Amino acid sequence: MRLLVLGPPGSGKGTQAAILSDKLGVPHISTGEMFRKTIRNGSELGLMAQQFIHRGELVPDDVTIALVRERLSQEDCRAGYLLDGFPRTVEQGRAFDNMLKHLGQAIDRVIYLDVPIARLIKRLTARRVCGVCGSVYHMENKKPKTEGICDQCGGPVEQRDDDSEETVLNRLDVYNQMTKPLAGFYQKKDLLCSVSGDLSIEETTRIIFQSCLRRDN
Ligand code: AP5
Repeated sequence: MRLLVLGPPGSGKGTQAAILSDKLGVPHISTGEMFRKTIRNGSELGLMAQQFIHRGELVPDDVTIALVRERLSQEDCRAGYLLDGFPRTVEQGRAFDNMLKHLGQAIDRVIYLDVPIARLIKRLTARRVCGVCGSVYHMENKKPKTEGICDQCGGPVEQRDDDSEETVLNRLDVYNQMTKPLAGFYQKKDLLCSVSGDLSIEETTRIIFQSCLRRDN
């Protein structure tokens, strides 16, 4: 199964992608997490990506497309994958179409998570993530068992550099201009399945399975 999860910052893409990847047994590929890993490693790519991410802007298309092309060529992607945060511009969407053609693959569904803007700002500014494994928490509804410590790996749980209110507002602007048009791009291909991401995490998963994947979770 090959799935894309599309939606604004904070709509729950990473949260739902992690659950779906576990239940469906396909790798969860998050371009945001891939970039954060390059930053943690201090690589040249990480230093470059950090400048864009810090400002809430997109990393240039050519860099992102090359990163995804390399990742999708790996063995664990043969039987399927779940892409979270890619494509993010219509140009990336077209490049991804070419990649799929080249690999003789097709996408099964694009899951679009719809959440009101005011809720997104609240979710992002209260989000905390593990600096080691990337597990996602929320200061009100998904706290780690021990404050500041990741339940999964014991790493430090901290605020993401780009989750300050100012950067969040810029990310939402960038989303509206650059990424939202992709919903129409996939609607025309009859691949888009839009669900409300403004329900509980569990209810959202249940509806994705029922409406987009036509099965029980
Ligand atoms: P990325 O990491 O992809 O960030 P994003 O798209 O802005 O999305 P987020 O990770 O902020 O939110 P999410 O939708 O995954 O929500 P989450 O599940 O965490 O990208 C970061 C940056 O990298 C970009 O800004 C860009 O610079 C660069 N980048 C990445 N991909 C790129 C690309 N393709 N091209 C160019 N640049 C790229 O949930 C948010 C919070 O809400 C959490 O605390 C969670 O616990 C909580 N929550 C989730 N669901 C619910 C629910 N149903 N109810 C209540 N709380 C919930």
